[in-house]
Amino acid sequence: MKRLFSEFSIKDVKIKNRICVPPMVIGFGQDGHVSPENVDRYKELAQGGAGLIIQEATCVNSDGLLSVKQLGIWKDDQIEGLKNIVDTVHAENCKIFIQIHHAGVTGISENPICPSPYEYNNFGRSAVGREMTYEDIKSVQNDYIEAARRAYEAGYDGIELHGCHGYLISQFLNKRVNKRTDEYGATPEKFVIEILDGIRKVTPAEFVVGIRLGGFEPTIEDGIHYAKVLDKNGIDFLDVSYGFFSEQEIHVSEGYKYSNAVYAAEKIKKEVSIPVFAVNGINSSEIAEEILNETNVDIVDIGKGILINPDWANYAKEGKDTGKCLNCTKCMWFGQSKVCPGKVIFDKNNK
Ligand SMILES: Cc1cc2nc3c(=O)[nH]c(=O)nc-3n(C[C@H](O)[C@H](O)[C@H](O)COP(=O)(O)O)c2cc1C
Ligand code: SF4
Repeated sequence: MKRLFSEFSIKDVKIKNRICVPPMVIGFGQDGHVSPENVDRYKELAQGGAGLIIQEATCVNSDGLLSVKQLGIWKDDQIEGLKNIVDTVHAENCKIFIQIHHAGVTGISENPICPSPYEYNNFGRSAVGREMTYEDIKSVQNDYIEAARRAYEAGYDGIELHGCHGYLISQFLNKRVNKRTDEYGATPEKFVIEILDGIRKVTPAEFVVGIRLGGFEPTIEDGIHYAKVLDKNGIDFLDVSYGFFSEQEIHVSEGYKYSNAVYAAEKIKKEVSIPVFAVNGINSSEIAEEILNETNVDIVDIGKGILINPDWANYAKEGKDTGKCLNCTKCMWFGQSKVCPGKVIFDKNNK
């Protein structure tokens, strides 16, 4: 586990190993504010030994919410609660970025926005997005910029723009969703690059700003193109996941050993000069080490593995079995069933 437990830096942020807890909304927020349960949860995650946590998708305005229990960063009075999370995580010698998010057409707003009219039907939700006016675009970009300013004030080590999984930035980037005829349609990355430029004006140069980007948006060629453009425009890292779920064209080399998202991360890493994170289905420390060595990515995200065993990184360091996600068709952590069988097995074996 030589590479998995080696140090890594992004700008001045020193991360003690290559294990990242990726953003995972579990839903303890109260009116967008941090609850004591949120703080306890991040304490447990930080004690688990990962070098970096990316805090769950935290909304930049109340119109962009995905659920009523989601955390928010759209008002200054939310900073204090967020700072409690940051201080708790730092006290455990772990670094923390915050993922900032707007759901666009996929959210719970009664009149959701989208780059252009789009009929969304997925995950039990259906809505038709209203085309954003130029004023809407400027206003939402300003919400992201103000959210980043608050994140800096709260003491986060950096931010991650939620730019994938079909949320607002992904809706702009994916040309099957974004049919605008103006400059935000002709150059879909304009929306996020202007956000990045705005954030640079309100935070110091050393503040880390990365993005979770869809590798297939809709194709891998698009994913690589956006990765290169963002690298050129000064983004600090790329956390490569999936794009707009129902609007992707996923083709990977036959017999590829890891997940499609890891494939995209490997391809993108070859084309950029900045750190790349890989995610999805990395379900043992041996595979994590192998991926770091074979694909040259810099950091691995361990999601459901850490939901099953929050001590995943400590177990890996001690050479113990970390437990395994069983990839149930209905995952408890998405509220689709009552139990997590992977956790039941892990807890039974580790009494
Ligand atoms: C309960 C749950 C909540 C999630 N919430 C987010 C989120 O807030 N933001 C995000 O980018 N991805 C989210 N994800 C996706 C994970 O970050 C990760 O990409 C995914 O679980 C695949 O990694 P894994 O195979 O290691 O679990 C979530 C996943 C789960 C299981
Ligand atoms: S419920 Fe199933 S899919 Fe979800 S984390 Fe547990 S074992 Fe994995």
